[in-house]
Amino acid sequence: MPYVTEATLTDIAMDRWSNIPDARLRQVMVAAVKHLHAFVREVEPTKEEWFTAVDWLTRVGQKSDEKRQEMILTSDVLGVSMLVDAINNRRPSGATPSTVEGPFHIPNAPEIANGQNVTDGAPGVPGLVTGTIKGLDGKPIAGAAIDIWQTDGDGLYEAQREIDHAYMRGVYRSQADGSYIVRTVAPIGYTIPMDGPIGELMSKTTISHFRPAHIHFAVTAPGYHSLVTHLFVAGDEYIETDVVYGVKKELIAAPEYSLATKLPSMRTSSPAAAASPGRIDTRS
Ligand code: BEZ
Ligand code: FE
Repeated sequence: MPYVTEATLTDIAMDRWSNIPDARLRQVMVAAVKHLHAFVREVEPTKEEWFTAVDWLTRVGQKSDEKRQEMILTSDVLGVSMLVDAINNRRPSGATPSTVEGPFHIPNAPEIANGQNVTDGAPGVPGLVTGTIKGLDGKPIAGAAIDIWQTDGDGLYEAQREIDHAYMRGVYRSQADGSYIVRTVAPIGYTIPMDGPIGELMSKTTISHFRPAHIHFAVTAPGYHSLVTHLFVAGDEYIETDVVYGVKKELIAAPEYSLATKLPSMRTSSPAAAASPGRIDTRS
């Protein structure tokens, strides 16, 4: 084994980290050392720059708690969350694509009857979201659980308000014909949290820190793979610059406006879920 020089250090470190019994951990750690060294060799940080980076990462950890996850946000804005999602959700054509879950999902939402309201007096433009859960064979799926969560008309999730009950979220069940109707208010585009290290970094760039208006869906049904996705509101000003890279063409739905009531209604243009024939979708 040669002694350490700038030229030999990467190989020595990779060799040391290849001495791990667990094959997957070994693969991950050797690749991490290899690519981190390549990054440092390309960037050639000064010591001050390296300490600035270490301090920033330390503050990312310190900013995180049960309600705030600055580390996930870092992965989101760098496009890594969407890449991991894409790798883990390769779907047959025709299946509704997945997208990031994001940090605002709260498990164990209450069940809500078809057509009932999730808003609890929330601010915003009232409207309906309708769709149908189908398999790839086009057959409707009855009894699928459709867990939805979204911002209110001020762009805030339950976790961002001082609220001690379920707000702007709930679990609907698809009907015998696979259909569902959600009574809600229109979501609006919103900024990711900018009061932490990510906001500090974003504000040194010209990158948009907004997400386009969307509603989150997590769809499950017995015997089918599950699907975590969004519906995005067509025409939103941030649709092409989503800060977390979550928008896929098939997930954009155009609101329809009723002249009589002025209520917008969003209809899904494609089945809300589909993977292999007769299955809902793939996310295990
Ligand atoms: C969201 O859609 O809720 C979200 C996703 C990623 C980062 C921040 C928010
Ligand atoms: Fe969201």
